[in-house]
Amino acid sequence: MAASNFADRDGKIWYNGEIVDWRDAQVHVLTHGLHYASSVFEGERMYNGEIFKLREHTERLFYSAKELDFEIPYSIEEIDAACIQTCEANGISEAYLRPIAWRGSEMMGVSAQTNKINVAIAAWEWPSYFTPEARMNGITLQISKWKRPSPETEPVHAKAAGLYMICTLSKHQAEADGFQDALMMDYRGQIAEATGANVFFVMNDGKIHTPTPDCFLDGITRRTVIDLAKKRGYEVVERAIMPEEMANATECFLTGTAAEVTPVSVIGDYTFKPGDICRHMMEDYDRAVGKVSTEAAA
Ligand SMILES: Cc1ncc(COP(=O)(O)O)c(C=O)c1O
Repeated sequence: MAASNFADRDGKIWYNGEIVDWRDAQVHVLTHGLHYASSVFEGERMYNGEIFKLREHTERLFYSAKELDFEIPYSIEEIDAACIQTCEANGISEAYLRPIAWRGSEMMGVSAQTNKINVAIAAWEWPSYFTPEARMNGITLQISKWKRPSPETEPVHAKAAGLYMICTLSKHQAEADGFQDALMMDYRGQIAEATGANVFFVMNDGKIHTPTPDCFLDGITRRTVIDLAKKRGYEVVERAIMPEEMANATECFLTGTAAEVTPVSVIGDYTFKPGDICRHMMEDYDRAVGKVSTEAAA
């Protein structure tokens, strides 16, 4: 059976203002974004025909571009509309969306003063694979040897391609060693985040603790889940968390647009038992995004 390939699918992609056939959305090998990581992107989900927090994602795309010293040549309103148009062109209402902006091929070298800024938006069907029961088993994480860099080293709050190099390395090592993902510490040795999601712990004080996002992405899902937890009456503590403190945690979960709320059962030598708080946050998040429940869909 042929391996699946994201370059070879049916569908439509929004590419610099036009809807093009999926297979025609190409870049040249001498693209600055490919050689020098001058590329920023978003990950969004459409649930039941609505893109969750679309405006916040688009604003973050523009913020990320600014951090990489380039301007997206469209307005925020135009990119919002283009995201919706991309889903419509593909006839999908449950989707993952990937807007991306990158420097083109006009100059080849570190300097890219005159390179065109390209923008594309792809969307494809990506339903939730797991029932709440299956997700409740929790995933396993290895502790990565790679550290999230300091804000003086990279533009750490941008969702920029270059920041994912160590995420792929961490995830590959974790998978080779039988884990599903990796947890990364930061340059100070504090807990940072997983390779594509933020992390939360329920400590034995009954409160929900999560690292302060001062050198990694302050996820849109992270902020949503903090609000939902507070509405439930849970106390949420944002602070520096050292890895040894995981011994005091009873539950752990990840948050992210792709991961949604995913309970964790293992991080290195530490174990957690997904319980009531994981379940409540999964249920509240599913409700907030307007997910069609399996019952309602049946
Ligand atoms: C490295 C990293 N951290 C955190 C997140 C969570 O961000 P969000 O909730 O905005 O999707 C993501 C996903 O985009 C990510 O790639």
